[in-house]
Amino acid sequence: MVEIKTAAELEKIRQASKIVARTLALLKNEIRAGVSTADLNALAESEIRKYNAVPAFLGYRGYPATLCVSINEEVVHGIPNARRFLKNGDVVSLDLGVVYEDFYGDAALTAAVGAVSPECSRLISVTEQALARAISAVKNGARLGDVCHAVESFVVQKGMSVVKEFTGHGIGRRLHEEPSIPNYGRPGSGVALKVGMTLAIEPMVCLGRPEVLIKNDGWTAVSVDGSCAAHFEHTVVVTENGCEVLTVV
Ligand code: MF3
Ligand code: CO
Repeated sequence: MVEIKTAAELEKIRQASKIVARTLALLKNEIRAGVSTADLNALAESEIRKYNAVPAFLGYRGYPATLCVSINEEVVHGIPNARRFLKNGDVVSLDLGVVYEDFYGDAALTAAVGAVSPECSRLISVTEQALARAISAVKNGARLGDVCHAVESFVVQKGMSVVKEFTGHGIGRRLHEEPSIPNYGRPGSGVALKVGMTLAIEPMVCLGRPEVLIKNDGWTAVSVDGSCAAHFEHTVVVTENGCEVLTVV
């Protein structure tokens, strides 16, 4: 069952989401060659604690950090590391979730470190546009498959591929609620969206083949062919005529 949030619940998800968005904006500004992924994690954690929020990922199924930092062929769930430094030409994805007054917000973005190749730059913009397409498909009465299909069709049309092993999700009092939101699907299929549903929509896109494998750290998902990947995510609430994006500054 997909929960419909009350106005009071929505307000807390809105606040949690705002903390995520502001923190990600701050982190994006710190993306430059020479910064370690652990530096970004430490900044994320100290920033969200200033808001009296708690990291959502830290300890989730044993995940050891506040932030996921995934570089180049790493698709998602890269673990911050004090010996891993960003360098020019890297494509870096940051994924952050917080809990505020018992409610969750979740978002991700991908950015270039210095100058990246034209293909990687196109990958980043296609993934961001795929999320925008998905968001445009959300409204009361639309079917979940319409949203999933919006991502897949756009990405495939651009000659790239969507990762199938991970999905977006409902969000609220838990990080992952129903429904699961794949980045592929059939228009007109799936649950009907209703006003007050809160969704974390998160396209994960590879330049090459879509298959991923998990590295020995038990978390980092990398593209099997080593091709570059990108990830964007927003938490949104369904409204009568569309949706409100909650993870905005
Ligand atoms: N945005 C991702 C998700 O919704 C991040 C999860 S990282 C984890 O699944 F560590 F919490 F698993
Ligand atoms: Co998520």
